[in-house]
Amino acid sequence: MHTPASVRARFPGVCGTSTALLDHAGGSPLPACVIDAATQYMRRCFVQTGADYDLSKQAAAVVKAAHEFAATFLNAGADQRVVLGPSTTALAHLLANAVADAFAKGDLPKERDEIVVCSAGHEANVWPWARLADRGFTIRWWHATPDPTRTMRLDVAALRALVGPRTCIVAFPQVSNILGDVWDARALCEAARAAGARSVVDGVAYAPHRLPDVEAIGCDWYLYSTYKVNGPHMAVMAGRLDAFSPLTGPNHPFIARDDLPYKFELGGVSHEGAAMIAATYEHFAWLADASPSTPFDRTVLERAFREIESIEAPLQRRLLEGLQRVDGIRLIGPWADDASRVCTVSFVIEGRSSKETVLGLNARGLGCRFGHFYSRRLVEQVGLDPADGVIRVSLSHANDQTDVDRVVAALVG
Ligand SMILES: Cc1ncc(COP(=O)(O)O)c(C=O)c1O
Repeated sequence: MHTPASVRARFPGVCGTSTALLDHAGGSPLPACVIDAATQYMRRCFVQTGADYDLSKQAAAVVKAAHEFAATFLNAGADQRVVLGPSTTALAHLLANAVADAFAKGDLPKERDEIVVCSAGHEANVWPWARLADRGFTIRWWHATPDPTRTMRLDVAALRALVGPRTCIVAFPQVSNILGDVWDARALCEAARAAGARSVVDGVAYAPHRLPDVEAIGCDWYLYSTYKVNGPHMAVMAGRLDAFSPLTGPNHPFIARDDLPYKFELGGVSHEGAAMIAATYEHFAWLADASPSTPFDRTVLERAFREIESIEAPLQRRLLEGLQRVDGIRLIGPWADDASRVCTVSFVIEGRSSKETVLGLNARGLGCRFGHFYSRRLVEQVGLDPADGVIRVSLSHANDQTDVDRVVAALVG
């Protein structure tokens, strides 16, 4: 296992500040190798792809490598396509609009006119679907079930009761960006599939902490944001070819419908961002004590994520133990200090506003935040004012014990 100091030394932005960064569910720090990849790309071959001269071919290879890395990261096989885009929100809207267009044209069966939307998710995978009520779909809301030990859980039985022969899509998160609870995406996708519906999984809050596996969970589409996984402000959507096949991506009409991912990558992707995505492999290879050679090797990523878990688990435990000493605390999510959750920890404190508490923490050099984090419906469902929301302390493998002790001491004190 790497020492905390050696891990932190990978991240210039973490070393270069006295602020304890406790907002990693918002965005993760960049390793130097990822920053350098953007610079190198821009210095060496900052030209357009698609031409026949050498530099253009090199640029195209960089964009291709980003797709290949993302496919390896997600375990997307030959029957899947990986689309790069500016954000998960944008990609989810592209997908939902394509579903609505296909439904309107009769490329998707008219009798499947229901969409099941999990209200406990980030709005990025909620509103793109909910707004299709205006395009002929009936939205069936799937509310997480209140649970005394975990605040809420996503119940397979509740989903089974909602899906049926009219269900077209089921949209839900693998992990809530507030609760931190890891939900059983495999069982949930299976329930959707058993009803003949397609599943769309928001993996944004999961991917920084556990290696996603779209094959294992059996989803139809999976989305995650690369800026939460030590990469650039971009996002990835992997989808099964058979799920994509009735859809027509929005790119120009003369681009063939089955030309994927191009049909869904409007105007090309950020090349320097693509260079950064591919370079995250170098960081993971370092964590795995492996050489960063291509082709990308999923076993290296598996080792890296075991390392990430072994760094994060004690920090999560230390944080949860520390928070138990805070008078009047109400955790929004499970107290469980095990792998059934990730280290995104939200809470409120009786009689204290989340905003005032966080501003106090910020003034002491603790970089966490408050609010509803765009999971506004969930925050309302647990009875909180979304304007004040929760206090969220979210850790990553770039944190160390000192960060945790500082925030606990400030809250207990
Ligand atoms: C769980 C979850 N899903 C989706 C998103 C939206 O991601 P993006 O900013 O790439 O649209 C976020 C962003 O915080 C998130 O936490």
